[in-house]
Amino acid sequence: MDILRKIQQHREDERRLKWEGTFSEYLDIIRERPEVAQSAHSRVYNMIKDAGIDEVDGKRSYSFFSEELYGLEEAIERLVEEYFHPAAKRLDVRKRILLLMGPVSGGKSTLVTVLKRGLEKYSHEDSGAVYAIKGCPMHEDPLHLIPHHLRDEFHEEYGIRIEGSLSPLNVMRLEQEYGGRIEDVMIERIFFNEDKRTGIGTFSPSDPKSQDIADLTGSIDFSTIAEFGSESDPRAYRFDGELNKANRGMMEFQEMLKCDEKFLWHLLSLTQEGNFKAGRFALISADELVVAHTNEAEYRSFISNKKNEALHSRIIVMPVPYNLKVSQEERIYEKMIRESDVADVHIAPHALRVAAIFSILTRLKDTNRQGVDLVKKMRLYDGEIVEGFNQVDVDELHKEHSDEGMSGIDPRYVINRISSTIIRKEVPSINALDVLRSLKDGLDQHASISKEDKERYMNFISIARKEYDEIAKKEVQKAFVYSYEESAKTLMDNYLDNVEAYCNKNKLRDPLTGEEMSPDDKLMRSIEEQIGISENAKKAFREEILIRISAYARKGKKFDYNSHERLREAIQKKLFADLKDVVKITTSSKTPNENQLKKINEVIARLIDEHGYNSISANELLRYVGSLLNR
Ligand SMILES: Nc1ncnc2c1ncn2[C@@H]1O[C@H](COP(=O)(O)OP(=O)(O)O)[C@@H](O)[C@H]1O
Ligand SMILES: [Mg+2]
Repeated sequence: MDILRKIQQHREDERRLKWEGTFSEYLDIIRERPEVAQSAHSRVYNMIKDAGIDEVDGKRSYSFFSEELYGLEEAIERLVEEYFHPAAKRLDVRKRILLLMGPVSGGKSTLVTVLKRGLEKYSHEDSGAVYAIKGCPMHEDPLHLIPHHLRDEFHEEYGIRIEGSLSPLNVMRLEQEYGGRIEDVMIERIFFNEDKRTGIGTFSPSDPKSQDIADLTGSIDFSTIAEFGSESDPRAYRFDGELNKANRGMMEFQEMLKCDEKFLWHLLSLTQEGNFKAGRFALISADELVVAHTNEAEYRSFISNKKNEALHSRIIVMPVPYNLKVSQEERIYEKMIRESDVADVHIAPHALRVAAIFSILTRLKDTNRQGVDLVKKMRLYDGEIVEGFNQVDVDELHKEHSDEGMSGIDPRYVINRISSTIIRKEVPSINALDVLRSLKDGLDQHASISKEDKERYMNFISIARKEYDEIAKKEVQKAFVYSYEESAKTLMDNYLDNVEAYCNKNKLRDPLTGEEMSPDDKLMRSIEEQIGISENAKKAFREEILIRISAYARKGKKFDYNSHERLREAIQKKLFADLKDVVKITTSSKTPNENQLKKINEVIARLIDEHGYNSISANELLRYVGSLLNR
């Protein structure tokens, strides 16, 4: 039983990591590993950094987030560099509440969850170890035990700066349990765990009238007041609010701006001064990262309210927009489906891609840039090579609208449409057309779409459909020829040999007979005509290609099938034109003859074995492409 062994292993690991000792023993630990005493913000930053940073073309991507969040590299880079990193260095931003702002289902909660789960794990590692005063409900930092007047000296000796005062409860415990002997106070290693409410807290607003501030800051324990005699005895207080429990780690504040102001003020004092007020006690010091999230509309109405002015300057807003890359959107859907109840349904190749194309188009904003329509912009954003554009152009397009990605269709909507199709269709297989149909039907039911947007969206569905038509045709074509890449390459090499001979006014040598022959104009034209190159323009086109080839050669780059966009298109179209009739006859014949049947079965087998179809979706694809070709 593997799982039982793993559970046992886990228990043993936990036991091995446990540590408890006196404060003086703890000082030995931090003398050797001062990072143990780092602040919560610093721990979060180091956790992110330790997971690894990839840098490509000056853009950083943080592995810590990359398994769960796709296409948000820029937002994350900004978040780390403008918040986590400076906060870890004790700069002023750490005194502000971190507010993630973005559209619904754009990954805000996921981002926070990644941080929480990450901290739980990190606290089990050496570099992320956390120690606390034993038996303290707030897992108070042991260094708070060091009296203020000795802290400068401590800093000199240990290189560690201490912030915050010993909490009223531990002041009392120090006297009563340890007779004031700080060195004897018991310290233990703690492990963050949201379920056990250690170092990780979550607060979500409920009815503002009934919600009690105690949820945040704890409350008097009426059952023990009699025993301790007074409300101001810290032993009669339960330090079990979310702010207490999240001490040393992080607290998530869900839907922060929906919350009553009095809750916000507590948070502000906490982030600003590092302490908050609970019950009748002196201020309680706490060290935690507070992350809140909200949507744009709520945020706008919040800042437009004069009453909230003082709060603004104490919040740092970080945008979390939607992903804008088709390929990453596909990954989001794959992940969401994997985690859902419909994970075992066959989703035909390209079905998710087509949905992703639609979603991304709804999120993009029109550009003023000449020659760039939304589809081209979509390709550029996804890192596709588009002739005549480079990375600088892409960066410029990104800069054109600062609010791009703040609106449009959200991933959850798409997944809901897909699952409802699956459930309704009651078949174990859906394809791109099913998905598009379902997205289209859903637009009527989507509550928050204006009439205008609906029209735009309908148009995007037909664009996505056209993209799919091309993909589908190419897919079938590929399955028909034994090796598509090879055929394309052979045809192109042949074309280039002829072009070279034509431009240099040379002869070609027949590879079989060795005989000299003139360039084959008919072959060249049959390719060029595919992309509308006229007889008059053929010379210029051929020369341009030769120039491109020699430019490649100069740079030591290999000119291949993908080096010239229009040529690639021409070759593909030519191959397809040659095949078209075969495919057309084979796929649309109602009563295929023996030969056709054999070919169809071969193609279907190839679609299944090499392209990820099952027999239902492969047959559907063939039928669809057959009908496209007969239009
Ligand atoms: N960029 C993204 N990368 C990965 N998953 C995403 C992304 N955006 C949204 N999701 C997925 O969409 C769903 C909704 O995201 P969520 O984090 O709840 O959004 P929010 O809190 O912003 O409303 C989740 O399943 C999440 O994993
Ligand atoms: Mg959320």
